[in-house]
Amino acid sequence: MSFEKIRPTRRGLMKGALATVTASTVPTGWAIAQARPLKVGLMLPYSGTFAKLGENITFAVEMLIAEKGGKLGGREVQIIKLDDESKPENAPQNTDRLVKRDQVDVLIGTVHSGVQMGIHKVVRETGTLTIVPNAGANAVTRALCAKNVFRTSFTNWQPAYGMGLALGAKGVKKAAWITWDYAAGNEAGEGFKEGLAKHGGEVVRTLTLKFPDTNFQPLLAQIPGLGVEAVGVFFAGGGAVQFVKEYKSAGIQVPLCGSGFLTEGVLGAQGAAAEGIETALHYGDNLDNARDKVFRKAFQDRTQREADVYAVQGYDAAQLLAVGIEAVKGNIEDEANLYKAMRSAKIESPRGPISMSASQEIVHNIYLRRAEGGLNKVVGIAAPALADPGTGCKL
Ligand code: PHB
Repeated sequence: MSFEKIRPTRRGLMKGALATVTASTVPTGWAIAQARPLKVGLMLPYSGTFAKLGENITFAVEMLIAEKGGKLGGREVQIIKLDDESKPENAPQNTDRLVKRDQVDVLIGTVHSGVQMGIHKVVRETGTLTIVPNAGANAVTRALCAKNVFRTSFTNWQPAYGMGLALGAKGVKKAAWITWDYAAGNEAGEGFKEGLAKHGGEVVRTLTLKFPDTNFQPLLAQIPGLGVEAVGVFFAGGGAVQFVKEYKSAGIQVPLCGSGFLTEGVLGAQGAAAEGIETALHYGDNLDNARDKVFRKAFQDRTQREADVYAVQGYDAAQLLAVGIEAVKGNIEDEANLYKAMRSAKIESPRGPISMSASQEIVHNIYLRRAEGGLNKVVGIAAPALADPGTGCKL
């Protein structure tokens, strides 16, 4: 369905409302639109291996909106949630439900890169304002970038590139890469390889399994024979818990590292098995900034959970939305000014200062962290103010 076929439906409804009021009190279409709540669709995983990630994003979005008194740009906010189950095959239909049936004004989603590509296809056609709070699929802000799509999380390339750089700087020349065989794992693998190559290192072997399988034993058994000095990985959520535990129990001596999702939000469940693992990510548990301290306390008080990168990304998705909606005083139809405000937003994130690149992708520090005593402690900056190259994006 085309953009033209959808937006007029909503405007058509407004016209219907106009017809029922008397001439002397006729409000403008804009006044009617403002009286209507702003519908925010959350399309996220609430089941499966990424369920906790989707929950933390949701809690943080709701927290920011509550901090704003339940309103953005003067309008009440109505949240509509949909469990995407991290199933790419259902993504176009699920997106249609939110965009075409529920007529959301904004879509915040999702976690899984494959699902994101399904969302992206629909929202590029409909022009629905979309903020990506996790999924790193590179194409979303590269060749397939769109003026109505912003991302407050990362590209799959970013953290893995930082990890490769940090490893290369330590003198590692041969590494292996292990991951689920789908966009996030493969694109992160490319980033890792590129970072390592900057210091003359290489990935000599890549091992994969299907998402969200956790039959890791056949892969782990190969590692001692690979002759590598380090193993880099992309795993997240429930799969990451299991991978780290099995790596430790297998007694493999080769150091394990990766995109920081490996130990993010899951250190409690991984326990001693995670101790000492180094990862690269745009967040850590001991960032010494006032914004982060306030955020972590508020999140803990509200949810009885520790904040993690997923919560931060969700919070920043809502912060970015607030900047845009407040700039147009709730009039989301004023797309030119809405997008302009969002593109030039300078936001104090719990992760530090953030901004948008020309391809509407986040620019942020990639930290090097070490898992110690249940915390991902920042031990350095792997890549300062790292912008994705945005290759192929013309905005
Ligand atoms: C992704 O599929 O893009 C993805 C999923 C989980 C993560 C990070 C990236 O933690």
